[in-house]
Amino acid sequence: MDIRPTGEALGARIFGVDLSKPVADGDFRTILRALGEHGVIVFPRQTIETEDLVRFGQMFGDLEINVANLFHEPDHPEVMILSNMKKDGKPIGLGDAGQGWHTDMSYSKDIALANVLYAMKVPIREGRPLGDTQFRNMHAAYENLPDDIKKRVEGRSATHDFIKFWDMMRAKPGSTRGPLTAEQRRQKPPVSQPIVQTHPITGRKILYCNPGYAMVIDGMDQAESDELLDYLFKHQEQPKFFYAHKWTEGDVLMWDNIGTVHNAIPDYGPDEPRYMRRIQVMATKNYAKLAA
Ligand code: OGA
Ligand code: MN
Repeated sequence: MDIRPTGEALGARIFGVDLSKPVADGDFRTILRALGEHGVIVFPRQTIETEDLVRFGQMFGDLEINVANLFHEPDHPEVMILSNMKKDGKPIGLGDAGQGWHTDMSYSKDIALANVLYAMKVPIREGRPLGDTQFRNMHAAYENLPDDIKKRVEGRSATHDFIKFWDMMRAKPGSTRGPLTAEQRRQKPPVSQPIVQTHPITGRKILYCNPGYAMVIDGMDQAESDELLDYLFKHQEQPKFFYAHKWTEGDVLMWDNIGTVHNAIPDYGPDEPRYMRRIQVMATKNYAKLAA
């Protein structure tokens, strides 16, 4: 296995692993460590089936079946389809890029370790790939906080709510999302998440607070909370934390969903097809032990 870091704020390309075959336990541990260290890891030029993606993801933890599971591969509710493509005039995938920055599953009591996307169709215009996925490094964001802010957020939690992001996306033109049902609300009530967390792979502190879902810092009045959340979100915007992945078909990209925030860029049109298979790995294992 050959791990080549991008040299940027996040990211490494991993060569010499064929994900159409089972990954040996030692290689799995190396990949897990690389995920913690680089935040975004890419396995280029893969040709894999849905079952291969599932088998790879399950090495890292249980796969999520989303509460609003709009589009998934046949017989695989855990494999979501992200796509702007249509069949018989109807959407075949969740097509809403242009999301704003967020962390998947921060709204959930049980959080996710990682996402894995397999790029089957990547829009290209004039030789350039479109639909970048962007990331920010929350290890570095925490380390770079001024000491007084570190003190203010230490031991604090924020309330995250699924509906914040859902309704923001739903309001976008052409959204296929309906209103959340009472049952979905019941399954995903607002939850509190510590703002400073110890990353389960690296053992280092991270800033776990994203503008997609975080509503309020618990125990603060709204004005004080808004001011501190604004500060934290602005802080995350610094270019030194930023990394953009430019997609190539066949990429299997895995991102650390605890130590990064991400955003999808909607710079492609309805006639420029994009198709990704996506799984979400829940943080259900003892990663410190596995990475040791
Ligand atoms: C996601 C997501 C980004 C993309 O799958 O959670 O934000 O580029 N996707 O499709
Ligand atoms: Mn996301």
